[in-house]
Amino acid sequence: MKKLYKATAKSPANIAFIKYWGKKDPQINLPFNNSISMNLSHCFTVTTVEFVKRFRKDRVFINDKEVFAGKKDRVVNILNIVRKMAKIDWKARVVSQNNFPADAGIASSASGFSALALAASKAAGLDLTLKELSILARFGSGSACRSVIDGFAEWKKGKDSQTSFAVQLAPLEFWNLIDIVVVMAKEKKKISTTEGHAAALTSPHYKTRLKELKARIKNLRETFLKKQFKKFGELIEEETISLHIIAMTSNPPIFYWDKGTMVVINELYNWREEGFLAYFTIDAGPNVHVICRQKDERKVNQRLKELPEVLFTIVNHPAKGSRLVEKHLF
Ligand code: PMV
Repeated sequence: MKKLYKATAKSPANIAFIKYWGKKDPQINLPFNNSISMNLSHCFTVTTVEFVKRFRKDRVFINDKEVFAGKKDRVVNILNIVRKMAKIDWKARVVSQNNFPADAGIASSASGFSALALAASKAAGLDLTLKELSILARFGSGSACRSVIDGFAEWKKGKDSQTSFAVQLAPLEFWNLIDIVVVMAKEKKKISTTEGHAAALTSPHYKTRLKELKARIKNLRETFLKKQFKKFGELIEEETISLHIIAMTSNPPIFYWDKGTMVVINELYNWREEGFLAYFTIDAGPNVHVICRQKDERKVNQRLKELPEVLFTIVNHPAKGSRLVEKHLF
């Protein structure tokens, strides 16, 4: 009989080269398209979960603050799924810490829900396969299903809950791509990713995006596997622009970019004229992820940090997926 119903997991955020935008089934986070991502070595969440018989309610603490854990809460939803799978009804304490600043505009949903999925399932005595873990994390946030996989992942959209999960596209050693997160805005973003997903379907261009994605995904996979950096970079930019066209033409329109976003994009264009290759990808916020090769990492980072709009940068290389760790947070 297992004595300690407690486990801790560490899990990375990931950056999507092909992005998930718009939900086919918002209840279970089913996407319209496959997406492709890389785990980030220096943006991660550590989460401890403990189930205790005498607890009267679930309590959740994120970055030292207690958050409301009502019935509709996404954390409670994951705990409920785990309880059902493990056939226990004990309440839990969840403590979660991100290593990146909460107000830096870096999404913590992927690292947070993938860490929660692993820690909660282990604490409940379950031994899930990677596929099961990816599905469980997906219930918290779609992009979290990619963070459980080591290195580079592809989320296969699937047809239903059981067929929608991420698999490995390549191990982390395959290509030492660098993602420099350029943090310019510290304020909390105004339009949540959840709202953005919902609004996407109102864009008159959404159907065109899905049509274009078929070829783009295939080309991106190919250029990635052949390590054709220039073509790969052009594709990730095309994909980013496509997502933001959808956001800007949604009802109501969503503008995630700000002045600083354009400053960085223009810089990258100028550098390319010098023959110096770095490309942008942007999620649901103004901060830019600059993708470059390892040989250029120092120079790119140096130049980015010299821009007056830039508060700080976080340099990432490809990373492992979710892991159990020994040291509990409480
Ligand atoms: O997993 P969510 O619901 O936080 O959505 C993530 C959306 C993007 O970051 C913009 C794209 C992606 O695929 O990660």
